[in-house]
Amino acid sequence: MKFITLGKHSVPAIGLGTYKLTGSGAIDIIRNAIDIGYRHIDTAQLYDNENEVGQAILNSNISREEIFLVTKVWPSNLHKDRFMKSVKESLQKLKTDHVDLLLIHWPHQSMKVEEYIPFLIEARDSGLTSEIGVSNFNIPQLKTALKLAPDIVVNQVEFHPWINQAKLYDWMKDHNLALTAYSPLAQGKMIGSKQLGALGSKYNRTPAQIVLRWMMQKESILAIPRSSNMHRLQENLNVFDFELVKEDVEDIDAWRLENHRMVGAQNGAKWD
Ligand SMILES: NC(=O)c1ccc[n+]([C@@H]2O[C@H](COP(=O)([O-])OP(=O)(O)OC[C@H]3O[C@@H](n4cnc5c(N)ncnc54)[C@H](OP(=O)(O)O)[C@@H]3O)[C@@H](O)[C@H]2O)c1
Repeated sequence: MKFITLGKHSVPAIGLGTYKLTGSGAIDIIRNAIDIGYRHIDTAQLYDNENEVGQAILNSNISREEIFLVTKVWPSNLHKDRFMKSVKESLQKLKTDHVDLLLIHWPHQSMKVEEYIPFLIEARDSGLTSEIGVSNFNIPQLKTALKLAPDIVVNQVEFHPWINQAKLYDWMKDHNLALTAYSPLAQGKMIGSKQLGALGSKYNRTPAQIVLRWMMQKESILAIPRSSNMHRLQENLNVFDFELVKEDVEDIDAWRLENHRMVGAQNGAKWD
Protein backbone atom coordinates (compact mmCIF):
# COMPACT_ATOMS: atom_id res chain seq x y z
CA MET A 1 0.00 0.00 0.00
CA LYS A 2 1.06 3.53 -0.67
CA PHE A 3 0.30 6.15 2.01
CA ILE A 4 -0.41 9.84 1.51
CA THR A 5 0.02 12.37 4.30
CA LEU A 6 -3.18 14.29 5.00
CA GLY A 7 -2.58 16.62 7.94
CA LYS A 8 -1.67 14.46 10.93
CA HIS A 9 -2.64 11.24 9.16
CA SER A 10 -0.89 8.77 6.93
CA VAL A 11 -3.75 7.60 4.72
CA PRO A 12 -3.94 4.50 2.49
CA ALA A 13 -3.94 5.78 -1.08
CA ILE A 14 -6.58 3.20 -2.06
CA GLY A 15 -9.79 3.61 -0.11
CA LEU A 16 -13.28 2.20 -0.45
CA GLY A 17 -16.01 4.15 -2.26
CA THR A 18 -19.50 3.40 -0.94
CA TYR A 19 -21.92 5.28 -3.19
CA LYS A 20 -24.95 3.05 -3.87
CA LEU A 21 -23.91 0.54 -1.20
CA THR A 22 -26.99 0.55 1.03
CA GLY A 23 -28.97 -1.89 3.14
CA SER A 24 -27.89 -5.02 4.98
CA GLY A 25 -25.93 -6.29 1.97
CA ALA A 26 -23.79 -3.16 2.18
CA ILE A 27 -22.85 -3.90 5.79
CA ASP A 28 -21.42 -7.27 4.70
CA ILE A 29 -19.63 -5.83 1.67
CA ILE A 30 -18.00 -3.06 3.70
CA ARG A 31 -17.12 -5.43 6.52
CA ASN A 32 -15.57 -7.86 4.00
CA ALA A 33 -13.59 -4.98 2.52
CA ILE A 34 -12.23 -4.15 5.99
CA ASP A 35 -11.37 -7.85 6.50
CA ILE A 36 -9.23 -7.90 3.36
CA GLY A 37 -7.38 -4.73 4.29
CA TYR A 38 -9.32 -1.58 3.39
CA ARG A 39 -8.55 1.05 6.04
CA HIS A 40 -9.87 4.19 4.31
CA ILE A 41 -13.63 4.45 3.77
CA ASP A 42 -15.51 7.19 1.93
CA THR A 43 -19.17 7.92 2.62
CA ALA A 44 -21.45 10.98 2.51
CA GLN A 45 -24.72 12.24 3.94
CA LEU A 46 -26.10 11.94 0.40
CA TYR A 47 -25.38 8.21 0.13
CA ASP A 48 -27.83 7.39 2.93
CA ASN A 49 -25.50 4.64 4.16
CA GLU A 50 -23.65 6.17 7.09
CA ASN A 51 -25.55 3.74 9.34
CA GLU A 52 -24.34 0.79 7.29
CA VAL A 53 -20.74 2.06 7.21
CA GLY A 54 -20.77 2.53 11.00
CA GLN A 55 -22.27 -0.92 11.54
CA ALA A 56 -19.72 -2.57 9.23
CA ILE A 57 -16.87 -0.99 11.20
CA LEU A 58 -18.44 -2.18 14.48
CA ASN A 59 -18.94 -5.69 13.06
CA SER A 60 -15.33 -5.92 11.91
CA ASN A 61 -12.42 -7.01 14.06
CA ILE A 62 -10.67 -3.73 13.37
CA SER A 63 -10.89 -0.84 15.79
CA ARG A 64 -12.37 2.45 14.68
CA GLU A 65 -8.97 4.18 15.24
CA GLU A 66 -7.36 2.03 12.56
CA ILE A 67 -9.77 3.26 9.89
CA PHE A 68 -9.54 6.61 8.13
CA LEU A 69 -13.21 7.55 7.90
CA VAL A 70 -14.46 10.26 5.57
CA THR A 71 -17.92 11.77 5.24
CA LYS A 72 -19.29 14.77 3.36
CA VAL A 73 -21.85 17.46 4.13
CA TRP A 74 -24.45 17.94 1.42
CA PRO A 75 -25.09 21.56 0.20
CA SER A 76 -28.60 21.70 1.72
CA ASN A 77 -26.88 21.54 5.14
CA LEU A 78 -24.53 24.46 4.42
CA HIS A 79 -26.51 26.67 6.74
CA LYS A 80 -25.61 27.88 10.23
CA ASP A 81 -28.67 26.20 11.76
CA ARG A 82 -28.10 22.90 10.02
CA PHE A 83 -24.38 22.29 9.49
CA MET A 84 -23.25 21.20 12.98
CA LYS A 85 -26.55 19.41 13.60
CA SER A 86 -26.15 17.41 10.38
CA VAL A 87 -22.55 16.47 11.21
CA LYS A 88 -23.62 15.27 14.66
CA GLU A 89 -26.35 13.17 12.99
CA SER A 90 -23.75 11.72 10.64
CA LEU A 91 -21.54 10.80 13.60
CA GLN A 92 -24.45 9.18 15.37
CA LYS A 93 -25.19 7.06 12.29
CA LEU A 94 -21.50 6.26 11.89
CA LYS A 95 -21.43 5.24 15.57
CA THR A 96 -18.34 7.32 16.32
CA ASP A 97 -17.54 10.60 18.04
CA HIS A 98 -15.49 12.01 15.15
CA VAL A 99 -14.61 11.41 11.53
CA ASP A 100 -11.04 11.67 10.29
CA LEU A 101 -11.94 13.90 7.37
CA LEU A 102 -15.03 16.02 6.78
CA LEU A 103 -15.65 17.40 3.29
CA ILE A 104 -18.02 19.93 1.80
CA HIS A 105 -19.56 17.62 -0.81
CA TRP A 106 -20.25 20.18 -3.49
CA PRO A 107 -20.00 23.98 -3.64
CA HIS A 108 -23.32 25.66 -2.95
CA GLN A 109 -25.04 26.98 -6.07
CA SER A 110 -25.99 30.34 -4.58
CA MET A 111 -24.01 30.83 -1.35
CA LYS A 112 -20.46 32.14 -1.49
CA VAL A 113 -17.64 29.80 -0.44
CA GLU A 114 -16.61 32.24 2.34
CA GLU A 115 -20.08 31.90 3.87
CA TYR A 116 -19.78 28.20 4.65
CA ILE A 117 -16.07 27.40 5.07
CA PRO A 118 -16.31 28.76 8.66
CA PHE A 119 -18.79 25.92 9.45
CA LEU A 120 -16.14 23.38 8.43
CA ILE A 121 -13.58 25.10 10.67
CA GLU A 122 -16.07 25.09 13.56
CA ALA A 123 -16.64 21.33 13.11
CA ARG A 124 -12.87 20.72 13.24
CA ASP A 125 -12.36 23.04 16.23
CA SER A 126 -15.16 21.24 18.06
CA GLY A 127 -13.44 17.90 17.54
CA LEU A 128 -16.11 16.45 15.25
CA THR A 129 -13.46 15.88 12.59
CA SER A 130 -9.72 15.60 12.63
CA GLU A 131 -9.09 17.02 9.14
CA ILE A 132 -11.09 19.17 6.76
CA GLY A 133 -11.43 19.25 3.01
CA VAL A 134 -13.66 19.98 0.06
CA SER A 135 -15.03 18.19 -2.97
CA ASN A 136 -15.86 19.33 -6.50
CA PHE A 137 -14.17 22.69 -5.96
CA ASN A 138 -12.58 24.54 -8.89
CA ILE A 139 -9.45 26.72 -8.64
CA PRO A 140 -11.18 30.03 -7.75
CA GLN A 141 -13.28 28.24 -5.12
CA LEU A 142 -10.15 26.58 -3.70
CA LYS A 143 -8.36 29.94 -3.54
CA THR A 144 -11.16 31.40 -1.41
CA ALA A 145 -11.43 28.30 0.76
CA LEU A 146 -7.67 28.19 1.44
CA LYS A 147 -7.58 31.86 2.44
CA LEU A 148 -10.05 31.07 5.23
CA ALA A 149 -8.81 27.57 6.04
CA PRO A 150 -5.17 27.11 4.95
CA ASP A 151 -5.16 23.65 6.54
CA ILE A 152 -7.65 22.13 4.08
CA VAL A 153 -5.90 18.90 3.08
CA VAL A 154 -7.77 17.55 0.07
CA ASN A 155 -10.11 18.24 -2.82
CA GLN A 156 -12.08 15.16 -3.89
CA VAL A 157 -12.87 15.32 -7.61
CA GLU A 158 -13.68 13.03 -10.51
CA PHE A 159 -10.39 11.72 -11.84
CA HIS A 160 -9.64 8.91 -14.31
CA PRO A 161 -7.84 8.64 -17.65
CA TRP A 162 -10.74 10.06 -19.66
CA ILE A 163 -11.04 13.38 -17.86
CA ASN A 164 -8.73 16.34 -18.13
CA GLN A 165 -7.99 17.59 -14.63
CA ALA A 166 -4.40 18.60 -15.46
CA LYS A 167 -4.78 22.29 -14.67
CA LEU A 168 -6.59 21.67 -11.39
CA TYR A 169 -4.19 18.88 -10.34
CA ASP A 170 -1.08 20.99 -11.08
CA TRP A 171 -2.53 23.91 -9.13
CA MET A 172 -3.36 21.64 -6.21
CA LYS A 173 0.14 20.15 -6.16
CA ASP A 174 1.60 23.67 -6.05
CA HIS A 175 -0.61 24.39 -3.04
CA ASN A 176 0.08 21.14 -1.15
CA LEU A 177 -3.42 19.83 -1.63
CA ALA A 178 -3.94 16.13 -2.21
CA LEU A 179 -6.44 14.91 -4.81
CA THR A 180 -8.85 12.10 -3.97
CA ALA A 181 -9.99 10.54 -7.23
CA TYR A 182 -13.68 9.70 -7.26
CA SER A 183 -15.21 7.51 -9.95
CA PRO A 184 -11.61 6.37 -10.63
CA LEU A 185 -12.92 3.63 -12.95
CA ALA A 186 -15.26 6.08 -14.69
CA GLN A 187 -18.07 4.21 -12.91
CA GLY A 188 -16.96 0.98 -14.54
CA LYS A 189 -17.23 2.40 -18.07
CA MET A 190 -13.47 2.23 -18.68
CA ILE A 191 -13.30 -1.49 -18.11
CA GLY A 192 -14.15 -2.53 -21.68
CA SER A 193 -11.66 -0.13 -23.30
CA LYS A 194 -9.51 -1.85 -25.96
CA GLN A 195 -6.46 0.23 -25.06
CA LEU A 196 -6.76 -0.76 -21.41
CA GLY A 197 -7.27 -4.37 -22.41
CA ALA A 198 -4.02 -4.27 -24.41
CA LEU A 199 -2.11 -2.80 -21.46
CA GLY A 200 -3.74 -5.37 -19.18
CA SER A 201 -2.42 -8.19 -21.40
CA LYS A 202 1.05 -6.63 -21.43
CA TYR A 203 1.26 -6.51 -17.61
CA ASN A 204 -0.96 -9.53 -16.97
CA ARG A 205 -3.33 -7.32 -14.98
CA THR A 206 -6.98 -6.34 -15.27
CA PRO A 207 -8.09 -3.02 -16.82
CA ALA A 208 -9.08 -1.71 -13.36
CA GLN A 209 -5.64 -2.51 -12.01
CA ILE A 210 -3.95 -0.67 -14.88
CA VAL A 211 -6.04 2.46 -14.21
CA LEU A 212 -5.50 2.37 -10.45
CA ARG A 213 -1.78 1.69 -10.86
CA TRP A 214 -1.51 4.68 -13.24
CA MET A 215 -3.01 6.87 -10.49
CA MET A 216 -0.80 5.41 -7.78
CA GLN A 217 2.29 6.36 -9.80
CA LYS A 218 1.24 10.00 -9.54
CA GLU A 219 2.09 12.29 -6.66
CA SER A 220 -0.49 13.10 -3.93
CA ILE A 221 -3.36 11.08 -5.42
CA LEU A 222 -5.70 8.83 -3.47
CA ALA A 223 -8.40 6.75 -5.19
CA ILE A 224 -11.65 5.37 -3.80
CA PRO A 225 -12.95 2.70 -6.21
CA ARG A 226 -16.24 1.09 -5.24
CA SER A 227 -17.12 -2.55 -5.75
CA SER A 228 -19.81 -4.81 -4.37
CA ASN A 229 -17.84 -7.88 -5.39
CA MET A 230 -15.24 -9.51 -3.13
CA HIS A 231 -12.97 -10.56 -5.97
CA ARG A 232 -12.96 -7.07 -7.47
CA LEU A 233 -12.46 -5.42 -4.06
CA GLN A 234 -9.30 -7.51 -3.67
CA GLU A 235 -8.23 -6.80 -7.25
CA ASN A 236 -8.47 -3.05 -6.64
CA LEU A 237 -6.12 -3.31 -3.65
CA ASN A 238 -3.55 -5.41 -5.50
CA VAL A 239 -1.84 -2.69 -7.48
CA PHE A 240 1.38 -2.32 -5.54
CA ASP A 241 3.42 -5.21 -6.92
CA PHE A 242 3.95 -4.01 -10.48
CA GLU A 243 4.90 -0.79 -12.22
CA LEU A 244 3.89 0.83 -15.50
CA VAL A 245 6.82 1.99 -17.60
CA LYS A 246 7.06 5.72 -18.31
CA GLU A 247 5.86 5.35 -21.92
CA ASP A 248 2.69 3.59 -20.82
CA VAL A 249 1.98 6.23 -18.15
CA GLU A 250 2.35 8.90 -20.85
CA ASP A 251 0.18 6.90 -23.20
CA ILE A 252 -2.65 6.82 -20.63
CA ASP A 253 -2.07 10.53 -19.83
CA ALA A 254 -2.82 11.26 -23.49
CA TRP A 255 -6.30 9.65 -23.39
CA ARG A 256 -7.83 12.53 -21.47
CA LEU A 257 -10.69 14.34 -23.09
CA GLU A 258 -11.83 17.84 -22.33
CA ASN A 259 -14.80 18.00 -19.97
CA HIS A 260 -15.55 14.31 -20.19
CA ARG A 261 -17.10 13.59 -16.85
CA MET A 262 -19.50 11.05 -15.42
CA VAL A 263 -20.71 13.19 -12.50
CA GLY A 264 -22.04 16.72 -12.43
CA ALA A 265 -21.95 17.50 -16.15
CA GLN A 266 -25.63 18.29 -15.93
CA ASN A 267 -24.75 21.19 -13.65
CA GLY A 268 -22.55 22.71 -16.33
CA ALA A 269 -19.85 22.72 -13.66
CA LYS A 270 -16.63 24.49 -14.61
CA TRP A 271 -13.52 23.16 -12.96
CA ASP A 272 -10.72 25.62 -13.58
N1 LIG B 1 -17.45 13.64 -4.09
C1 LIG B 1 -18.32 13.32 -5.03
O1 LIG B 1 -19.08 14.18 -5.55
C2 LIG B 1 -18.38 11.90 -5.51
C3 LIG B 1 -19.05 11.61 -6.71
C4 LIG B 1 -19.07 10.27 -7.13
C5 LIG B 1 -18.44 9.28 -6.38
N2 LIG B 1 -17.82 9.60 -5.20
C6 LIG B 1 -17.14 8.54 -4.37
O2 LIG B 1 -16.24 7.83 -5.20
C7 LIG B 1 -16.54 6.44 -5.12
C8 LIG B 1 -16.17 5.71 -6.41
O3 LIG B 1 -16.84 6.26 -7.52
P1 LIG B 1 -18.08 5.54 -8.24
O4 LIG B 1 -18.74 4.65 -7.25
O5 LIG B 1 -18.86 6.62 -8.89
O6 LIG B 1 -17.44 4.70 -9.42
P2 LIG B 1 -16.13 3.79 -9.69
O7 LIG B 1 -15.49 3.38 -8.42
O8 LIG B 1 -15.34 4.48 -10.73
O9 LIG B 1 -16.78 2.53 -10.39
C9 LIG B 1 -17.64 1.65 -9.72
C10 LIG B 1 -18.13 0.63 -10.74
O10 LIG B 1 -17.01 -0.09 -11.24
C11 LIG B 1 -17.21 -1.49 -11.04
N3 LIG B 1 -15.90 -2.06 -10.63
C12 LIG B 1 -15.25 -1.83 -9.47
N4 LIG B 1 -14.07 -2.49 -9.45
C13 LIG B 1 -13.99 -3.15 -10.63
C14 LIG B 1 -13.02 -4.02 -11.20
N5 LIG B 1 -11.90 -4.32 -10.55
N6 LIG B 1 -13.26 -4.53 -12.44
C15 LIG B 1 -14.42 -4.24 -13.09
N7 LIG B 1 -15.37 -3.42 -12.61
C16 LIG B 1 -15.16 -2.89 -11.38
C17 LIG B 1 -18.26 -1.62 -9.97
O11 LIG B 1 -19.05 -2.76 -10.19
P3 LIG B 1 -19.10 -3.99 -9.13
O12 LIG B 1 -19.72 -3.42 -7.89
O13 LIG B 1 -19.98 -4.98 -9.82
O14 LIG B 1 -17.70 -4.46 -8.93
C18 LIG B 1 -19.09 -0.37 -10.18
O15 LIG B 1 -20.09 -0.58 -11.16
C19 LIG B 1 -18.03 6.44 -4.79
O16 LIG B 1 -18.48 5.16 -4.39
C20 LIG B 1 -18.09 7.52 -3.76
O17 LIG B 1 -17.62 7.05 -2.51
C21 LIG B 1 -17.76 10.90 -4.77
